[in-house]
Amino acid sequence: MNDQSQLARVGLFDARVPRYTSYPTAPHFTSGIGPDDFSDWLSAIPAGSEISLYMHVPFCRRLCWFCACRTQGTSSDAPVLAYAEDLKAEIRLIRDRLAPGVRLSRLHWGGGTPTLMPARTIREIAGAIFQAVPMSEHGEFSVEIDPNEIDAERLDALVAAGMNRASIGVQDFDPAIQEVIGREQSYELTREVAEMIRARGVTSLNADILFGLPHQSPERMADSVEKLLTLAPDRVALYGYAHVPWMARRQVMLPSDAMPTPQERLVLFETARRLFVGAGYDEIGIDHFAKPSDGLAIAAREGRLRRNFQGYTDDTAPVLVGIGASAISKFPQGYAQNAPATGAHVGAIRGGRFSTSRGHAFVGEDLLRARMIEALMCDFRIVAKEMIERFRVTPERLAELFEAAAKSFPGMVEVSSEGFSIPERMRAVTRMVARAFDAYELSKAGHSPAI
Ligand SMILES: C[S@@+](CC[C@H](N)C(=O)[O-])C[C@H]1O[C@@H](n2cnc3c(N)ncnc32)[C@H](O)[C@@H]1O
Ligand code: SF4
Repeated sequence: MNDQSQLARVGLFDARVPRYTSYPTAPHFTSGIGPDDFSDWLSAIPAGSEISLYMHVPFCRRLCWFCACRTQGTSSDAPVLAYAEDLKAEIRLIRDRLAPGVRLSRLHWGGGTPTLMPARTIREIAGAIFQAVPMSEHGEFSVEIDPNEIDAERLDALVAAGMNRASIGVQDFDPAIQEVIGREQSYELTREVAEMIRARGVTSLNADILFGLPHQSPERMADSVEKLLTLAPDRVALYGYAHVPWMARRQVMLPSDAMPTPQERLVLFETARRLFVGAGYDEIGIDHFAKPSDGLAIAAREGRLRRNFQGYTDDTAPVLVGIGASAISKFPQGYAQNAPATGAHVGAIRGGRFSTSRGHAFVGEDLLRARMIEALMCDFRIVAKEMIERFRVTPERLAELFEAAAKSFPGMVEVSSEGFSIPERMRAVTRMVARAFDAYELSKAGHSPAI
């Protein structure tokens, strides 16, 4: 049996599978977790430890039709400035609960479009964050930058605040594809922004591109990747386009009859993958590429790669605090998500309360299964010794879990006393294999296509 028919037999071309940026995944969160849990978990962070912080800005100047991110369009600055005041209030609420000496390992601003904020607001918010939680000396500050929504003044403000990593949205360079996905952005503009970022001393530049967009063909995909390679990004996220119009209404604007089939998506991914690898990039997990000298590539080689709500990371801080509407926090005790609607979130903050509306407290085998899924997504293998030492699982129980997962993937995964692994030729099914370790998701579908 060839690989394609094996992949088809396990459902790669039909399934919808979670992207596993958490375990359990967000659809399994319940209203059992609220502001008091969030507050208690913040207070339990040990004095002098390192945490990471994600800040969500749910506004964009333009709403790209393909985008599934939680954001809303605004032509005026008024809602953004009001939201920025609420963020500062939220930061103060968090500061009041933190033990002394807590420092930041990573700070990430995402959205939406955080660069929609005027330079003065960028300075104020960064100042409020660093006053509440100072950056550690090896800390990293990264920002998602829409090349259409940035200028020298805002970049200067970000760099002065300490931004040392930037991520730009590219998606696809083909003007015809840009038109059908509602995101026009010339190669020249993207290049100019990449140069402006680098000219200010930011040495780590990530770019997001998509496969699976309407009208993409292997030739057009190759053309886009080759254009991207001329910008020499340090990291690339190659995401599969998720068509979820029932969640993101604006996606109905995309021509569904021009979408590549799942089999074609696999070819598009492979086309891009070969070009990145051929250009000397290391493959990182299921959908990232990085120059061998980049922190993510080094972490992957050293077995330090991790996965969080923002995707792959080399951050090992045990706590990630999310601020802003819909942001999710992770603690050793569980997950806590802020109210998804901006109005509900800021309403709580203005009342002096956190907006935590859902979450999950870890129970039973959650932490073991979370780490097994993360290890598959990062390293394509689960090391038995690590699980036994860290989670006190018996070798017998571990063997049982491995066998149960392997049963659904005959001849496609390897099980031994050392652990469980996915060989390189079968990496396309990684998320499906991960799902076999998911006690919550076994019978339920995720939102993203399996390929
Ligand atoms: C918050 S957005 C990007 C930040 C910034 N607003 C921009 O447009 O450049 C983060 C990334 O999510 C990815 N994304 C958005 N919608 C997606 C979808 N439907 N499927 C897959 N990836 C998607 C895009 O690659 C996008 O660059
Ligand atoms: S891709 Fe970026 S700019 Fe476009 S709607 Fe999504 S978050 Fe906003």
